[in-house]
Amino acid sequence: MKPSLYPPVSLPNLLVAIVLVVTSLILLSATIHRGSSLSSSSLLSTAPPPERSWPAVWASYSNELPEPKYFHEAGNTLEMSHYDVRFFQGVIPYSQHCDVLQHLIRSYLSIMASLKLETWIAHGTLLGWWWNGRIMPWDYDLDVQVSMSTLEHMAKHFNQTLHDWRYTTDEGGQGVQETKKTYLLDINPNYSELKRRQGMNVIDARWIDVDTGMFVDITALAERNPVVEPGIWSCKNFHQYRTHNIWPLKETSFEGVRAKVPLDHERILVAEYGEKSLVLTEWEG
Ligand SMILES: *[C@@H]1O[C@H](CO)[C@@H](O)[C@H](O)[C@H]1NC(C)=O
Ligand SMILES: *[C@@H]1O[C@H](CO)[C@@H](O)[C@H](O)[C@H]1NC(C)=O
Repeated sequence: MKPSLYPPVSLPNLLVAIVLVVTSLILLSATIHRGSSLSSSSLLSTAPPPERSWPAVWASYSNELPEPKYFHEAGNTLEMSHYDVRFFQGVIPYSQHCDVLQHLIRSYLSIMASLKLETWIAHGTLLGWWWNGRIMPWDYDLDVQVSMSTLEHMAKHFNQTLHDWRYTTDEGGQGVQETKKTYLLDINPNYSELKRRQGMNVIDARWIDVDTGMFVDITALAERNPVVEPGIWSCKNFHQYRTHNIWPLKETSFEGVRAKVPLDHERILVAEYGEKSLVLTEWEG
């Protein structure tokens, strides 16, 4: 008898073979499904978990130590999470916070442009731009994005640099007053690390008002997986975009200074905040 190349077909062998085939089919169909959902929706976006309360939540459920974090806020509450702890001098009253935010974003956009660093407005700040070209009166945070290569350049040449900003006001005909402000550009040393670390590592850089501790959050978009998913850009907080959703950026203005927004800004806003965000003219009264 010729020696067989194959093992004898016994019942256990047959069962093992069936299990293997079924498992491969399941895995294959999962992969195809993921692939098709990627190509059918041109923009993917998942609402991020509530970042700011994570340290406390994590500490109460886990025996693991909290992950390291570079930027520390003045506290975990909604109110305190808008200040960098190093510069926190006290909570800014509601009537004054808009002023602080306006000068933060004007200085950031203008100084980045003068340094030839490409940046654009994002998230809630983009929604404010869409409606009014301004910060929403109830907003407490400002969000901008850069590409990973811009962030690398910033980290190399501008980390921990201070930038002066002067502006004049003429309130109630009191005569023109000049105010000088200073802002700090600070870059997270682990910006290039892909891990979110339970939300501890999602902010890549900040533009901080050194008088109040209020800031602009800067996050970088990178092609995380250029071989498998070319042209898919994402931050560490699950927001994903295609190259043509962002570039070429649209030139516009925001709070009276020159600004840039993503090309597909409406689609991005609908993906992030829903259709109603571009329709409803009332919010929380
Ligand atoms: C940065 O990453 C290193 C290596 O994982 C870690 O030891 C360090 O604590 C991290 N620092 C911050 C500020 O995230
Ligand atoms: C930026 O500078 C600070 C202070 O020197 C440092 O702790 C941080 O690691 C630096 N960030 C980068 C990206 O090098």
